[in-house]
Amino acid sequence: MPARVSMRPLRRREFELVKVCFVTSEGEKVTAEAEPGSWLLDVAQGAGMPLEGTCEGQMACSTCHVIVASEWFGKLVPASADEEDMLDLAAGVTQTSRLSCQIELTEAIDGIEVQIPNISNDMQIG
Ligand code: FES
Repeated sequence: MPARVSMRPLRRREFELVKVCFVTSEGEKVTAEAEPGSWLLDVAQGAGMPLEGTCEGQMACSTCHVIVASEWFGKLVPASADEEDMLDLAAGVTQTSRLSCQIELTEAIDGIEVQIPNISNDMQIG
């Protein structure tokens, strides 16, 4: 007897939530989910991560600095020259540092892991 196969089309969700794994400065992993189009800084703050985001995404501080896991870094849209300039002022910068206010969540980075630095500089002017 042949197996019964349902011919009903699968309902597809309009979008899938994008997962983010934050690694705290103490090494604890905290997972969060957000809609595509969300900004990483907002998701981090919503998950209780201690990122000040003093300039609210205007690239005038570096208090949203995160360290992206190396396997995810290349999947991000490259940093702009302005972001690179601001990262130069951040404390504890590494080769995979980014400003979380400049990272928009997309399905391409579902599962991304970022570390929260244990030090930050607020270089905001004005
Ligand atoms: S919140 Fe200030 S540079 Fe990201």
